[in-house]
Amino acid sequence: MAVLEVKDLHVAVEGKRILKGVSLAIRSGEIAALMGPNGSGKSTLFQTIAGNPRYEVVEGDILLDGVSIRGMAPEERFARGLFVGFQSPIAVPEVRFAFLIQAMLNKKAGKKLGDANPRIGEVYKLADELGLRRDVFNRGTGAGFSGGEFKRAEVLLALMVRPSVAVLDEPDSGLDVDGMAAISKALARLVEGGAGVLISTHYARILRFLEPDRVYVMFDGKLVLEGGPEIARKVEESGYERIFKESGVI
Ligand SMILES: Nc1ncnc2c1ncn2[C@@H]1O[C@H](COP(=O)(O)OP(=O)(O)OP(=O)(O)O)[C@@H](O)[C@H]1O
Ligand SMILES: [Mg+2]
Repeated sequence: MAVLEVKDLHVAVEGKRILKGVSLAIRSGEIAALMGPNGSGKSTLFQTIAGNPRYEVVEGDILLDGVSIRGMAPEERFARGLFVGFQSPIAVPEVRFAFLIQAMLNKKAGKKLGDANPRIGEVYKLADELGLRRDVFNRGTGAGFSGGEFKRAEVLLALMVRPSVAVLDEPDSGLDVDGMAAISKALARLVEGGAGVLISTHYARILRFLEPDRVYVMFDGKLVLEGGPEIARKVEESGYERIFKESGVI
């Protein structure tokens, strides 16, 4: 069953129509990749899925486990199993990263788990696997995190939360080669655990570590191509312009 369904989504930001009818479905245990040139609307889709109120859904719907989340606050979407990672994560330096993790686990569980939460020990193991220094937990969230540390911290959060669907906007941006391998492995683990995962990326490189079930290509607020991993390879080899011309998109 599809955990996330985006149906004919039209979205405006400050009165300007950015998404012009996007439909896609992410099923449990699947990973899909969203590609597309700069400014094609990928982040707009992620922000809208997250429930950012600046992104107005003009038409269409978003379903999570068959239920429309269109009118729901971001926290409610999260509590229902959605995790969104942003292209430029927002630092909250006044909140210790360890506290944020605990608060998110509490929110997901719908109750205060307390210090006896046995999963707390997991964060150290995950940090080691993701190549994150353990001192990040005692720092403010994002406080002085490098770009790559921020991305790794976000994936760590996703693994802790165990969402039914994780959508991550460019989780590979700014990562070194070891980071790329580490987060690919982590995302594969999420998928093996039954989550549906959607990532956006500019590079076929991450898709070599993480074979996607489907690749979507967005252009000018619409999905213009859909297929298997071969699309990502073609994008890297030929570039968007050539592919779009060949396939009659432009
Ligand atoms: N507040 C706004 N006012 C006007 N245009 C906006 C606004 N916010 C976003 N846009 C436009 O929407 C389009 C889509 O932007 P979006 O960030 O979704 O693209 P993207 O595919 O994520 O690009 P990138 O690969 O560079 O991250 C861009 O042309 C952008 O300038
Ligand atoms: Mg973007």
